[in-house]
Amino acid sequence: MRWMRALRRGVLVAAVLLAGCSDVARSPGEPPAGGRGPLTFATAGDLTHYLAPLVDDWNRGHREEPVTLVELPDSADETRAQMLSELRSGSSRFDVLNLDVAWTSEFAAAGLITPLDRDRFALDAFLSPVVDTATFDGRLYAVPYVTNAGLLYYRADVLEAAGEKPPATWAELARQARTLAPRYGLAGYAGQLLPYEGLTVNITEAIQSAGGTVLRDDGTRVAVDSDAARAGLAFLADGLREGWIPTEALGFKEEESRAAFEEGRLLFLRNWPYVYAEAGGPGSKVAGRFGAVPLPGLDGPGTSVLGGSNLAVSARSKHPATAADFIAYLTSEPVQRQVLTRGALPPVRASLYDDPSLVASHPYLPILRQSVLAAVPRPKSARYDQVSLVVQAVGQDVLALRDTPEEGVRRLARELSAVSNGS
Ligand code: GLC
Repeated sequence: MRWMRALRRGVLVAAVLLAGCSDVARSPGEPPAGGRGPLTFATAGDLTHYLAPLVDDWNRGHREEPVTLVELPDSADETRAQMLSELRSGSSRFDVLNLDVAWTSEFAAAGLITPLDRDRFALDAFLSPVVDTATFDGRLYAVPYVTNAGLLYYRADVLEAAGEKPPATWAELARQARTLAPRYGLAGYAGQLLPYEGLTVNITEAIQSAGGTVLRDDGTRVAVDSDAARAGLAFLADGLREGWIPTEALGFKEEESRAAFEEGRLLFLRNWPYVYAEAGGPGSKVAGRFGAVPLPGLDGPGTSVLGGSNLAVSARSKHPATAADFIAYLTSEPVQRQVLTRGALPPVRASLYDDPSLVASHPYLPILRQSVLAAVPRPKSARYDQVSLVVQAVGQDVLALRDTPEEGVRRLARELSAVSNGS
C-alpha cells in the first residue's frame, strides 16, 4: 500500500515540523526543550507537613513531568551536608533544591547550582531583602521561596496574671524570666542553642540586638570586637549562669524548643513563625495562651537574622526547563498563599502581608513583615560554612561558661580573621 506509506511519511514529516515549530516558539534564554521531564525536589524536613499536597497538585497537571519530593533532615546543617555530598558526587538525582538562604552563595560559588533567567520570575513582587539572598556575583542563582525572622513567643496568660507586658528589652526579659517563671513552675527562656546553624543564628542575633555585627562587607571584614558583641554573648551566658535559661536548651534545635514551649514548660521562646500555628494547634498545651512580639534587644527591640530558603536548580539537572516551571509554580501567588495558610511559613510575596483576610487569620503578619524587613542577612560568602562553624564552636564554649564573653569575642575576632584570610 504505497499511499499508506506515503501518508505515514507525511504524518512523520508534519510531526517533525511541528516539533521544530514548538522549539522555535521557545522564548530566548529558556533552556532547550530536551530539558523537560520528571523532577526530584529536595528539601529540609517539612515541619508543618504541607508540601506533599502542593506537589500532588503539580503532579495532577503534569503527568509527564511528575515531581518526587525528597525530605532531608530537619537540621539546616545536615540537609546542607546531604545536598552537598549528592551534588559533589556528580549525581543528577536532585533537580530542584530548597536551599537555606545561608548556603545559596556557597552552592553558587561551587558551581553546583545553575544561574537563572531573571525575567522568568516575578522578582518585583517579592520582599526585596529576600531577593538579594538569591543573587551571587551579580547573577540570580535561585528564586526566593520562604522568608523567616525570629520572634519572641511568650506565655500571655502568665504575663497577664502578673500584670506584666511582653518584654522589649533583655533587662525586662531577664527580670521576668528570673522572677516570674519560677513562680509558675516554668523555665525562663530558650532558643536554639545546640551547635548547628541555629546556634549561629541565636549568637548572631544576640550580637546584632545589642547593636553589634559579626562581619561586614559580605564576610570579608571581621567587625566583631565590640562592647555590643560582649553584651550580646553576656545576655545568653548570664541566662545560663543564673539559671533562667535551662541547661536543657543547650541541646535544643527548632523542634525541641518548640516542644518545650508547647508542653507548657517555658515562659519565653525564641523561634521562627511556624511555631505560631503549631503552638496554637491541637496537641499544644499553650494554645490560646501565648503571644509573639519582635525579639528584644539591649536597649529596645532586637534584630533578627534573615532566615528562609531559595529554590535553585542543580547544575546537573537533566530537566532544567521543567525545573524552572516548577519554581515558577511554587512562587506563584496562589501557592505562596498556601505556604502561609497550610505551611505556616512566611511567604516571599509582599502583597500577602497586606491582605486583610490573611492578617485576620494570621495576626502576627504585621510584626513578621517588620521583623523580616529589619532582619540582617547572613554574609554572601562562599565560605559562610566556615564562618558558621567558628561561631558555633565559640558560642558553645561561652554558653557552657568555659569562656567568658570577653574571651569569646577575642576568639571570634581571631578565628574569623583566619577564615576570611583563607587560612
Ligand atoms: C530556619 C531558617 C534558616 C536557618 C535555620 C537555622 O530554617 O529559615 O534560614 O538557617 O532555621 O536553624
